[in-house]
Amino acid sequence: MPHHPTIIIGAGAAGLMCAAHAGPGTLVIDHAKAAGEKIRISGGGRCNFTNMYAGPENFISGNPHFAKSALARYTQWDFIDLVARHGIPYHEKTLGQLFCDTSAKDIIAMLLDEMAKAGATLRLQTSVTEVYHDGNQYHLTLSEGAPLTCDQLVIASGGKSIPKMGATGFGYQIASQFGLPVTETRPGLVPLTFGDTFKAYSGVSLPARVTANGPGFDEALLFTHRGLSGPAILQASSYWHEGEDISINLLPNQDVFQTLRDLRARAGAKNASTMLAEVLPSRLAPYFAEQWGLTGNLADYSDVRLRELAEQFQNWTVRPTGSEGYRTAEVTLGGVDTDALNARTMEAKAQPGLYFIGEVVDVTGWLGGFNFQWAWSSGWAAGTAI
Ligand code: FDA
Repeated sequence: MPHHPTIIIGAGAAGLMCAAHAGPGTLVIDHAKAAGEKIRISGGGRCNFTNMYAGPENFISGNPHFAKSALARYTQWDFIDLVARHGIPYHEKTLGQLFCDTSAKDIIAMLLDEMAKAGATLRLQTSVTEVYHDGNQYHLTLSEGAPLTCDQLVIASGGKSIPKMGATGFGYQIASQFGLPVTETRPGLVPLTFGDTFKAYSGVSLPARVTANGPGFDEALLFTHRGLSGPAILQASSYWHEGEDISINLLPNQDVFQTLRDLRARAGAKNASTMLAEVLPSRLAPYFAEQWGLTGNLADYSDVRLRELAEQFQNWTVRPTGSEGYRTAEVTLGGVDTDALNARTMEAKAQPGLYFIGEVVDVTGWLGGFNFQWAWSSGWAAGTAI
């Protein structure tokens, strides 16, 4: 039976990074036609490969301390250095987010090169269908060809997002098979749905602060035919649970009461609903005028009423009917319980030689290059430990 010292299941961001450090003879297996398919489509084809300001506070996990070790030992600067050594041109788009100038394919080529230099090989269009440990080594049954054995097995099979691209719950299944707990999984970085409520405003975008049971995110808010999206909503969606409200500040970073008083002084003769178009995109004015019952002239509004109105701008509370789900979610929240893993090596505490890295682990980054950074850091941690 062909034997490898290390087999990595999944040729995504985490698996390829791990392969570049796990030593010669490592085999990476993936059922996709090409390696790094999510890297290829990420960041609109330009891959937001890391974030200059990445730190443990940008990650969601049952144990917020778990990611610290790997993130501190393989940092965004280590990855940026690798990118620079390969001569890949890149730029900061916004908020520390680094993108390739040319194509995400540059990152895939770099990882394949690193992995080949390290003596690892890649086998595509092959699914791993079964895994067991005989007390000595791991046995893998494949969709194609003879079964394989290995001493160390790394699960880098990702989460459930975008099933159309081959995402499966395989990694969670393997964890459960070996007795590792798996926390509840749900779609993250995903548009939120509101039935037909906002259909008429589809395409309208404005800067806002969105909060859902977590930090507030100051980024663009986008109205779509299915509900609300844009970076502010995607970020907040990772903190949102079914049945909960989200709070939207439509005029963040300003003293809204003062803004309204100034408007009253300057344009008091205007209808209050017309005034809305001065501070919000005009297409939204009729919606909020109706929602907030705005009638009469602004001059007739007392300071008390203006304070109420300011609060309405700053805390517009809405309840999504749901999310667009794994079909469009960028990531899967939850996963292999970090309590069961060694934070330095990613090895299962109770199952020597079995490692979990990347998105399959219960560590999820914010939007902005953080998820790839987790893939690089956790992949490096396992690879160098093997
Ligand atoms: P990943 O999903 O990349 O790889 C898992 C691999 O395992 C896949 O290749 C799959 O085919 C394979 N596999 C699964 N089951 C298998 C089995 N049974 N047998 C064999 N192979 C199997 N993040 C970021 O930081 N910046 C960004 O710009 C973006 N952009 C972005 C856009 C879109 C559209 C999506 C969907 C996601 C992003 N992300 C992102 C998130 C990022 O892509 C994601 O967090 C990482 O790809 C996770 O890397 P992994 O290696 O853990 O899994």
